[in-house]
Amino acid sequence: MCGIVGYIGDRLAVPNALNCLKALEYRGYDSAGVAYADGTELKICKMVGKLENLTSHLKNKIIPSSCAIGHTRWATHGEPNKQNAHPHADYYKMLAVVHNGIIENYLELKNELEKKGYKFYSATDTEVFANLLSFYLIEQNPLLKGYYAVRNTMHNTLHSTYKIDEKCIIKALHSVVLKCKGSFAVAVLMRGYDDVIFFAKNKSPLIIGKGENENFIASDTPALIGCCKKFYSIKDGEIGYITKDRIAVFDENLKVLKLNFKTVNIRPEQVILGNYSHFMEKEIEQGADSVTETINRIEQMKILERISPKIFDNFDLHITACGTALHAGLIAKCVIEDKLKIPVDLDYASEFRYKKPLISSKSICLFISQSGETADTLSCVELSNSVGATTIAFTNVAGSRMESLVDYIIPTSAGPEIAVASTKAYMAQLAAIYQFIEYLAKIKGITIEFSSDSVKNAVLKNKYINYYKELEDVVQEIKDEESVYFIGRGIDYLLSLEGALKLKEVSYIHCEAMPAGELKHGSLALVRKDCFVIAILTQKELYDKTLNNIYELNSRGAKVILFSPFKELRNIVYKQILIPETEPVLSPFVAMKPLQCLAYATAIARGNDPDKPRNLAKSVTVE
Ligand code: AGP
Repeated sequence: MCGIVGYIGDRLAVPNALNCLKALEYRGYDSAGVAYADGTELKICKMVGKLENLTSHLKNKIIPSSCAIGHTRWATHGEPNKQNAHPHADYYKMLAVVHNGIIENYLELKNELEKKGYKFYSATDTEVFANLLSFYLIEQNPLLKGYYAVRNTMHNTLHSTYKIDEKCIIKALHSVVLKCKGSFAVAVLMRGYDDVIFFAKNKSPLIIGKGENENFIASDTPALIGCCKKFYSIKDGEIGYITKDRIAVFDENLKVLKLNFKTVNIRPEQVILGNYSHFMEKEIEQGADSVTETINRIEQMKILERISPKIFDNFDLHITACGTALHAGLIAKCVIEDKLKIPVDLDYASEFRYKKPLISSKSICLFISQSGETADTLSCVELSNSVGATTIAFTNVAGSRMESLVDYIIPTSAGPEIAVASTKAYMAQLAAIYQFIEYLAKIKGITIEFSSDSVKNAVLKNKYINYYKELEDVVQEIKDEESVYFIGRGIDYLLSLEGALKLKEVSYIHCEAMPAGELKHGSLALVRKDCFVIAILTQKELYDKTLNNIYELNSRGAKVILFSPFKELRNIVYKQILIPETEPVLSPFVAMKPLQCLAYATAIARGNDPDKPRNLAKSVTVE
C-alpha cells in the first residue's frame, strides 16, 4: 500500500533515499516525504502528490546527511494531504516514523495517549505509532519529557541532544509492537542519532539490503536493485536497527538473530524503463518471455516434483486470489474441471475468508498472488493453515510473506512487475497454472491435449505482433466513452473479465464484463445505439452461440469490436482485431496481449499515467 525506505552510510542519504523511493512509487503515490538527521536536528520534508514533487522541491538543496528515511503513500487513514503525509513526528519531536500497513487498534491507542497529554496533528495511524514509541521512551527515561519540552520551546537553539541507549530504544520499540494490532513495516529515526535507523515489521513487507559501508531498508527488493546484492527479508515480529556497518535483528523475545542474507537475481535493467514509455508497455511486451521463463524455471528446478503426489490421493481443491490473479484462477478452475473433471471451489479472497469455506485437512488450497503480500489472500492462507489444509502459492516475488506461510511455492518468473496493472505476471501465472494442471494430469493418469511446449509455442504466436497500429481507431473511438462492455462464453468470458479490469483500472472508463448468454437476461437494456461492446470469440464450440449474441447487439445498434481468429466474421462486426489461431484451451496465451494493449493505449489517449492509476497501488497490503 505504501513504500518505505531507509539509507545509512557514507554517501548522501537523502538522494539515495529518494532514488530508492522512485522504484517503490508504484506502491502508492498520494504523497511522499523524507526525514533525515541533520547533526542534532531531525528534519522532515513532505509533499502532496507524486514523488517528483518532493524530488524537485529538494533538488537544489545539498543535504549533508548520512541517514534518512523516506515514504511514498497510498492513503488508508486520513486524506492524501500534507498533514497526513509521512514521515510523522511524535508530539515531543524526538523521532520520525514512516509506515506501511494498518494499525487496527490505533483509535484505542490514540485515546489512551490523548489522556496522557499527547496531542495529534494528523488523522493517521502512523502518528499513533510515533507517539506510542515516544511514550515508552519517556517511560524508561522520564527526563526526556522535560528535555524535549524545553528544547521545543527554545526552537531548537539547544544544540545538544539527550542520548538514549540503543537498548532502551529497542525495548521501547518492542513495547509498541506488542501493543499494536494489525500490519506494519516501520522505519524510525531518532533525533540526535545520525548513525542508526530502527525498524519493526509485522505482516507488511520489509527487507534489509546490505551494502559496503552503507545499509538500506525498503518495502521490497526493486527499491534496492543496483544498490546492493545481499538481502534479508525481515520476519513478522522482528525488530532491530541498521547502522552503516552493523545490522541487528531481534526476535519477538528480543533474542539477537543470526541473519541469513540471500542474493536476489534481479538485474538493474529489469527495473528501468529502457526504450519504453511506461512500465506497462514494457511489461506487456515481456509477457511471452515471462511465460517461457516461468515454464523453464519450474521444469529445471523440478518445482512440481517437490509436491508429494500423496496429497492428491483424496482431496478437494480450492483457489483464491484477488483481481487479476483471481482471473488467472478462473482460467485454472475452467481448465481443471474441463480436462481433469476435478471440481474446484474458487472465490475472491475477500469473500473466501468470510464465507466459512468448506475446507479441512484434506483440502488443497491454491493461492495466486504476484506480490505475495496481498492482505486478503494472506488471510486466506492463514485460515487454510489453521484447518491443516495443504497450501500451495503461485507467487512472483521471492521472499514474500506468502512464501513463508505456505507448504509449497510454485514461482512465476515474470521478473519485477512495476506497473500497477498486472500484465506479464498474469501471463506467467497462467503458464505456471497450466504446468500444474499438466503435472496433476500425469499423477492422475489423465491424458490432456496441451503441454508446456504447446503453451510456449502458443504465446510465441503474437510475441512480435504490434497491436497498437491495429487498435489505433478503436482507441480513438472508445477513449471518451463512459462505459464499455465485454462479452464472451466459457474461457472467452473469463478473458473478458480480465480485459475489462485492465481497461477500467488504467483508463477509468466504466467497464463491465458479462457472459454473452446473460445479455438477454438484463444487461441488454444497457445497450444503446453506438455503444461499444468488446466481444471475445476464440472457442470454436461456442462460435454459433456467441455469434447469435453479436447479432443481438448489432440489431440494437451496438458497435461490436471482436477479438477473434475467425476472419470470416470481419464483415459482421464493427471492427475485428485478428488474433492468431491456437487450440481453444490455449487461447488465453494469444488473446490477452491485444486486450492489454487496448487498455494501455486507451489510458495514454486519455492522458492517464498507466503505471500509476489513481487510487490504486501495486500491492494491496491492507484488507
Ligand atoms: C491487477 O491489474 C491489479 N493490479 C490487481 O487486481 C491485482 O491483481 C490484485 O491486487 C492482486 O495482487 P497480487 O497478485 O499481488 O496478489
